[in-house]
Amino acid sequence: MADKLIIFDTTLRDGEQSPGASMTRDEKLRIARQLERLKVDVIEAGFAASSNGDFEAVQLIANTIKDSTICSLSRANDRDISRAAEALKGANSARIHTFIATSALHMEKKLRMTPDQVFEQAKQSVRFARNLVADVEFSPEDGYRSDVDFLCRVLEAVIAEGATTINVPDTVGYAIPELYGEFIRTLRERIPNSDKAIWSVHCHNDLGMAVANSLAGVKIGGARQVECTINGLGERAGNCSLEEIVMAVKTRKDYFGLELGIDAKHILAASRMVSQTTGFVVQPNKAVVGANAFAHASGIHQDGVLKARDTYEIMRAEDVGWTANKIVLGKLSGRNAFKQRLQELGVQLESEAEINAAFARFKELADRKSDIFDEDILALVSDESVTQDKEQFCFVSLSQHSETGERPHAAVVFTVAGKEVKSSSDGNGPVDASLKAIESHVKSGAEMVLYSVNAISGSTESQGEVTVRLQNSGRVVNGVGSDPDIVVASAKAYLSALNKLQSKSDRVAAQG
Ligand code: KIV
Ligand code: ZN
Repeated sequence: MADKLIIFDTTLRDGEQSPGASMTRDEKLRIARQLERLKVDVIEAGFAASSNGDFEAVQLIANTIKDSTICSLSRANDRDISRAAEALKGANSARIHTFIATSALHMEKKLRMTPDQVFEQAKQSVRFARNLVADVEFSPEDGYRSDVDFLCRVLEAVIAEGATTINVPDTVGYAIPELYGEFIRTLRERIPNSDKAIWSVHCHNDLGMAVANSLAGVKIGGARQVECTINGLGERAGNCSLEEIVMAVKTRKDYFGLELGIDAKHILAASRMVSQTTGFVVQPNKAVVGANAFAHASGIHQDGVLKARDTYEIMRAEDVGWTANKIVLGKLSGRNAFKQRLQELGVQLESEAEINAAFARFKELADRKSDIFDEDILALVSDESVTQDKEQFCFVSLSQHSETGERPHAAVVFTVAGKEVKSSSDGNGPVDASLKAIESHVKSGAEMVLYSVNAISGSTESQGEVTVRLQNSGRVVNGVGSDPDIVVASAKAYLSALNKLQSKSDRVAAQG
């Protein structure tokens, strides 16, 4: 393969590990389809042995996605690896990604294993995985903080056992670009069989350097795979962001000299989909996908861009999927036009019943809002009411009264396991009153740790998109709701978070 940089997306695995970002099987499949459309080389679909839900999600994605390699994470033990292989059976191209910690700190305090035990387990796991699939990736967790001599010994041994990709994680985001790049180069130079594997970088963003470190791993270290997530989603400060890596390598091809398989015009839709699904809003000044990424406010900049766009623009907005806010559909649009637009946006609803439900919501929205933008359609299909028969709590209607000098009051009608209930309350404002009305009936006892409102397409005519983060008994979930009325959007977001709290998780932590 000519000098190609492999893009390994781990939004559905490492990204999902961020508190509150957990996704349903169907949501994961929808995102996997968008990643395939983006022509991501490898999709890490989950950690099959961590829960039945994750196993099913990996299996569904492996059975459905045909153009990308599908990967499952797995700890370095036979049970996890067999589970991963089982989930990946239907894939056109399958990869098992097995890992074990190699830093002195992790081995001693977390694993309570000696270096020799870790060495043996790493070797034995790669051997076991190679008997099940041809494509095996090995990661020494906390690799960057590991003793370099010990790391060389482990990595040489796993390559000899048949590992095809060696990934070197900076698990805690401690690296500095130059030092990380040199670390990868040292490993490649010192390990005699290093040329038998593809080298990969996996950087966390705790010091805000995940993208810079990954690029140094590529440029200085010679890595040819980058592990990243859409919007940089991930635990703590997140992972290396896919859109930034891709556009850095494309825009500065003069410097990196690498080919990418990515079709960048699908980046923005992927960003929106991940943000709307997880409730992790993209900051306006985020590179490439933030609302201001291509906006020029200063007069000097505007004047320059109008005369010659490359005076202030190094990339073309349309190359990553930005279009002028165009009206895509309206009140008179039919079911076929709606279905086709869904397809163009990379959204595939699973059944005719779901298309019908989404179309009914589209019509209802078009009655209240004359211009329907792509953002509205993406929000509409992310809304749980499209699949509402599967949910415990579903929004039905809301009325509220607020007037200067009076305490606001709200009455909310919603269903609980299909049965309609009405609950009312007063509150500090109409949103507070509505959420208190729901809580007074449900009595979840959950603590709200985040509430945010975002205008989907920028103006007061747009829909409001609300994210509610709830915490209960150590679990954190995000609920998202959208509606032209932000009080309704808030009630929907609250019910969506309650639904996620209800779904019990038996998940095993990846770094546990
Ligand atoms: O950050 C990390 O070390 C990981 C490994 C499991 C690859 O995500
Ligand atoms: Zn990670």
